[in-house]
Amino acid sequence: MKITVVGAGAVGASCAEYIAMKNFASEVVLLDIKEGYAEGKAMDLMQTASLNNFDTKISGSTNDYSKTASSDVVVITSGIPRKPGMTREELIGINAGIVKTVSENLLQHSPNAVVIVVSNPMDTMTYLVHKTTGLPKNRIIGMGGALDSARFKYRIAEALDAPISDVDGMVLGGHSDTGMVPLIDHATRNSVKISEFLSAERMDEIVAETKVGGATLTKLLGTSAWYAPGAAVSSLVQAIACDQKKIFPCSALLNGEYGLDDLCIGVPVVLGKNGIESIVEIELSDAEKAKMQESAIGVKKTNGLLNL
Ligand code: 2OP
Repeated sequence: MKITVVGAGAVGASCAEYIAMKNFASEVVLLDIKEGYAEGKAMDLMQTASLNNFDTKISGSTNDYSKTASSDVVVITSGIPRKPGMTREELIGINAGIVKTVSENLLQHSPNAVVIVVSNPMDTMTYLVHKTTGLPKNRIIGMGGALDSARFKYRIAEALDAPISDVDGMVLGGHSDTGMVPLIDHATRNSVKISEFLSAERMDEIVAETKVGGATLTKLLGTSAWYAPGAAVSSLVQAIACDQKKIFPCSALLNGEYGLDDLCIGVPVVLGKNGIESIVEIELSDAEKAKMQESAIGVKKTNGLLNL
């Protein structure tokens, strides 16, 4: 199984590291435009192999896409991250051109690959890849909901003072500070609804904290987060590479599902060797449906900036 990660910045390199440490891939190629940068990170990561017990071969390339040929899964993390006070949507001017070029270069050498888009504004970048490559809709996946759901579960476990392994929860909608839809009424602590343990006010706080989870870290770090984004991507790559048929919230192109059409937005999908094996339509409350519709309006507004 060959995986390519474009962008050897913090997110891309973390993603490559977590993929390697899960030891399901034979090869990970890390590619960047900065001279020697991907090669250096790949070499440094390979020097952890004997310490972290993985056999995956990580290599680096400075913008030579021939090195990525015949990849099974390709991950696009390239572009600029946001700074404190910025929204993800403000990155579109620079990142759209980068993502378009990168996806075209990748698919020239790996025409059968499943594409995972990470670059922000992610839902719009995922839509851009659909519109510019014409790939089958199941082979283009946006990573946002897996990260947002991890942050959601972190906040729930924090509020419950519970082990995070006991907590389950999912975030749908746009991967934006205002568009996320944390399914707080579906969240559980070992199959018990968290409303059994927490007040409505505390649950509202968890929703609010989750929606700005990325911005909170950007303020603390001075740049976008990378550990959890990298880990979230590696989980999607593993589900595809190992044909796990696991459900993740991912940005997928909708054609009527959830009453939405012609946009990419976070919904539950089954991930396997074909990428999106299916879109799972779960029962949402009227309030949750309204939030999804509102989120879609925001995503489509950003899509409108693409001038497709
Ligand atoms: C985040 O939320 C980078 O969008 C990513 O941290």
